[in-house]
Amino acid sequence: MAGGKLWGGRFSRGTDALVEEYTESVSYDRALYAADVAGSKAHARMLARVGVLTGAEAEAICGGLDAVKAEIEAGTFEFRTDREDVHMNIEARLTELIGEAGKKLHTGRSRNDQIGLDFRIHIAARVNAWVAGLRRLIGVLAARAAEHKETLLPGCTHFQPAQPVSLAHHLLAYAFMFKRDVERLEGALDRVLVSPLGAAALAGTTYPVDPAFVADELGFRGVFSNSMDAVADRDYVLEPLFDASLVMAHLSRMCEEIIIWANPAFGFVRLPDGYATGSSIMPQKKNPDVAELMRGKTGRVYGSLFALLTTLKGLPLAYNRDLQEDKEPFFDADRTVTLSLACMAGMMEEMGFVPEAMARALKKGFLNATELADYLVGKGLPFREAHHVTGRAVAHAEERGLGLEDFSLDELKTFSPLVGEDVYTVLDYATAVARRATPGATGPASVAAQLDALACWLGATGDGS
Ligand code: ARG
Repeated sequence: MAGGKLWGGRFSRGTDALVEEYTESVSYDRALYAADVAGSKAHARMLARVGVLTGAEAEAICGGLDAVKAEIEAGTFEFRTDREDVHMNIEARLTELIGEAGKKLHTGRSRNDQIGLDFRIHIAARVNAWVAGLRRLIGVLAARAAEHKETLLPGCTHFQPAQPVSLAHHLLAYAFMFKRDVERLEGALDRVLVSPLGAAALAGTTYPVDPAFVADELGFRGVFSNSMDAVADRDYVLEPLFDASLVMAHLSRMCEEIIIWANPAFGFVRLPDGYATGSSIMPQKKNPDVAELMRGKTGRVYGSLFALLTTLKGLPLAYNRDLQEDKEPFFDADRTVTLSLACMAGMMEEMGFVPEAMARALKKGFLNATELADYLVGKGLPFREAHHVTGRAVAHAEERGLGLEDFSLDELKTFSPLVGEDVYTVLDYATAVARRATPGATGPASVAAQLDALACWLGATGDGS
């Protein structure tokens, strides 16, 4: 065998060192070692069951694979670049350890279906870890929301003051986005957990393999339907990458608000010391670097999604080596999403909200203008006229640096004789919030229902651990 390769039979010369460096994947796919060992053990047991291996051979293989795994975990295993990838590293070491039986492990299997199996096992585990991270964050947001049902701040559209909302309502908006992210990821698992083992190189195999047995052993939810599809597609990587991209988009929007709110011009939050950094030149600075980096790293996760989408788009069926390029984008995105979720949960747990600053901001921007218009409609004025009258009142108030609620009753009557003493209750910001009691609205009753729904969902779907 040229250069000692497991596939070296037809080669008379070894691989060029440069090519070895260019084509190897073991430097990063070694992260799949546990999945590779589990997959190979299930494959060996299946081969024994269908009579391709003897029971003793399968036992020797499983014992040997456990020994290899133990070496890897003890740090004594030597991953060799000349053995190309994690599969051949483990198989070669297995044969060194147990002899002849090791050489039979790869019967009825190809690295093409093997890598699919390994990667799917790994991705499913990571998706579950993201789900656990999301659930923790949702729990933190719900807890902080419960503390701030009475705290009001300007709700914005176009990032301009629009109507008052409760901080609880604002925080829960993100919690519900993250809940959908969980649901999306859990849905993706139905497609990730489809076992490709038995597809072999691309056409299936002449050995009487039992793909369903392997799938069952490994906790998969189903088995491939078409062997070419099983080794050719990477939708099971892309779908979680998309879901991760959306998680990052949601995190990034939160980050943007944290950064704005931390600016003293707003002062809505005080960043926890553990989640902020200082400046080497400006002693007063407390920078929201965690939020900035998370916003920045969002692009990196999108990049992983687009890298793999691009890799896939021109490939003829079935397996092509290009597909090896699916690992690093996923690993990088995984690291980013996992750390981002943990950082956001930690930061939100300790975030110092400043209700007084939020209350001061409420007074700027005529957040109660809709209330005045609706009040006039209630007194019989058509909405378009009420809108116009209120607009005039706002213009006058703005000129004099007042809020609508600062006008005397006589002044208000100059805009419309329909205005009475009861207008001041309506103009009150807390009243404006409290009156929004429809499902999903910002009023305390609606917010309490949202909190209940979230608590119920978190409880019903387990603690994710
Ligand atoms: N390292 C390869 C990958 O990640 C494993 C499959 C290799 N198959 C092959 N026929 N060379 O895709």
